[in-house]
Amino acid sequence: MTKPLKAPLRPEFSSGPCAKRPGWTPDALNNALLGRSHRSKPGKEKLQYAIDKTREVLGVPDDYLIGIVPGSDTGAVEMALWSMLGARGVDVLAWESFGAGWVTDVAKQLKLEDVNIYKGDYGKLPDLAAVDCDRDVVFTWNGTTSGVKVPNADWINADRKGLTICDATSAAFAMELPFEKLDVVTYSWQKVLGGEAAHGMLILSPRAVERLESYTPPWPLPKIFRLTKGGKLIDGIFKGATINTPSMLCVEDYIDALEWAASLGGLSGLVAKSYANLKVLSDWVNASPWAAFLAEDPATISNTSVCLKVIDPWFNDLSEQAQASVPKALASLLEAEGVAFDIGAYRDAPSGLRIWAGATVEASDLAILTDWLDWAYGEVKASHTA
Ligand SMILES: Cc1ncc(COP(=O)(O)O)c(C=O)c1O
Repeated sequence: MTKPLKAPLRPEFSSGPCAKRPGWTPDALNNALLGRSHRSKPGKEKLQYAIDKTREVLGVPDDYLIGIVPGSDTGAVEMALWSMLGARGVDVLAWESFGAGWVTDVAKQLKLEDVNIYKGDYGKLPDLAAVDCDRDVVFTWNGTTSGVKVPNADWINADRKGLTICDATSAAFAMELPFEKLDVVTYSWQKVLGGEAAHGMLILSPRAVERLESYTPPWPLPKIFRLTKGGKLIDGIFKGATINTPSMLCVEDYIDALEWAASLGGLSGLVAKSYANLKVLSDWVNASPWAAFLAEDPATISNTSVCLKVIDPWFNDLSEQAQASVPKALASLLEAEGVAFDIGAYRDAPSGLRIWAGATVEASDLAILTDWLDWAYGEVKASHTA
């Protein structure tokens, strides 16, 4: 195959930090409140505006709280796990490396005794029907490193007794999240919205707040994780009075991303754009003699972190080491050509490719990328078979 003539306008296909929104320049940050206290009146107003705009774009119910917290998505998840778990048994789900990280937290760090772990291999989900929602449930909506998402929340009871704690960092703003089924939702700004990394978002249902105010875990909590004081929620956290100092530059960038999202029609616009992006990749995969989705069930194929494996009789005959080198060489070649950055599989995932298809990426760029993928695969295969 001859080398494609056209390059994607933007070669950023990383799964985090993800591409900035189309048209972003540093001018988007001109109104950042720099050199001022985040606790000043205009500082608090900015933070409150970010919270209000989040509620509007994501469709968060009025009785849910939204807080900006330290430590990115990891910080937000850890705050929930360490503040709420231990009150009842816990079911933890994992089907790729981020979910596996939460299993480690629950079972090995918190050392909770009554823990059921549901694991799925890369490409598969665990048995969702086996999950008991009268226990607390910890899961990842979209497994970023395997490109497998839960297809819906039908497996979560509306009248559950436990809390559902959902790491939604690769899902929020790209997939519909049924908040009535979710008690804790977390994400970070640098993912689907292409914001800047640093801060996490923690969204709490009234039942999650009730847990915080009625249960005190037996272990100590560092200040950075503390959501309550004297048994009461520190409600300022959910009104822009952050636990510690946020970056007002990142806050401004997040506000810019939210306003861009609103201009696309809000959540439905973002979701539609991401699905249109996935369609470009699916059409290509379905016609490809060498690439397939890592996700086995089509209903679980991620529309953000699209993970691909090589399927080719030639490839199957290679040693495991040689197999691992093929997608790596392909990704390096495209990076060297300046046409695709960061599309190699995550370090703990099976060898393959991972291409971001969230709304900050353009379908036209993905279409061009698929030509480059075919070209690069041909080059890599030729060098192996030479
Ligand atoms: C599903 C999932 N959880 C957690 C994280 C960690 O997020 P952060 O770096 O924002 O803490 C990531 C990062 O890609 C992720 O994809």
